[in-house]
Amino acid sequence: MAMTGVLRPGLAQIRVLDIDAAVKHYVEHVGLMKVGTCGDGRVMLKGRDEFDHHSLVLRPSDQAGFDLFAFKVESDEALSAFEKRLTAYGVEVTPVAAGEQPGFGRRIAFTLPSGHRIDLYAEVARADEIPDVENPYIWKSVPHGMGAIRMDHILLYGPDIDKNLDIFENCLDFKLAEKVDDPEGNVFAIWLTCSNKAHDIAFVRHPEPGKLHHVAFFIEDWNAIGHAADVMVREDIAIDLGPTRHGITRGQTIYFFDPSGNRNEVFAGGYTFYPDDPVRTWSFDQVGRGIFYYERALNERFLGVVT
Ligand SMILES: [Fe+2]
Repeated sequence: MAMTGVLRPGLAQIRVLDIDAAVKHYVEHVGLMKVGTCGDGRVMLKGRDEFDHHSLVLRPSDQAGFDLFAFKVESDEALSAFEKRLTAYGVEVTPVAAGEQPGFGRRIAFTLPSGHRIDLYAEVARADEIPDVENPYIWKSVPHGMGAIRMDHILLYGPDIDKNLDIFENCLDFKLAEKVDDPEGNVFAIWLTCSNKAHDIAFVRHPEPGKLHHVAFFIEDWNAIGHAADVMVREDIAIDLGPTRHGITRGQTIYFFDPSGNRNEVFAGGYTFYPDDPVRTWSFDQVGRGIFYYERALNERFLGVVT
């Protein structure tokens, strides 16, 4: 499919309590690569199959959680056009100067009704170490840890997610792939895509604004999910749930926690989405199977534990 406008997720910045423990977790265990350190102590990381400068930033803080999630758009003209559309819609847009994150060009930032900061950018430098592009091997060096390929998507918790949906559909041309309705018929959860992935960002309705449920890393397949579970046990990583499968997106998954209590996911598979697909809708009585397909029930942590 032709991809225009917003191309893909490109950057997540989260807060961690102990930067050394966090770097060890994400590099040695999840399998990301350390790119470097910003002047203010933030650490930049990337997946082994990513070309961009970095895709995950860990910011030292006394409280774990979510700072921002950013999408790459196709051109600077597209960035200006999205800025106009957001402003016309009534969303306050703030410019972020080029270089605020090493390698990144100018960004625009705005806050969703759910309390989450979203950035858009058009320019980002290539990483020093990128995947082979001439006669490529499937990987440049043997994958380590859980073998994270790329930062894939994020699930965020907050209020007014129906308003988020309207902004993503009307200002940014995202498509709603799947949703869960509550018993009264109101939107309880949404899975949105700007690509042909089953989701690039998702939201669950929650009273507190600005919360992180998980940031997800793509891995190869079901065998890689099993290997990731073996890594989690060997390294004594707290597992939330899995290995299992989602009914929603059909992805294969494990939820687990970083040393600061931020939830991570390793995710494989998922169906191919096309922009003319109908929305898949789940009723509240089936949400257990939607989230955890084999267990067919939510655990309490899915709804209650966020950072
Ligand atoms: Fe996920």
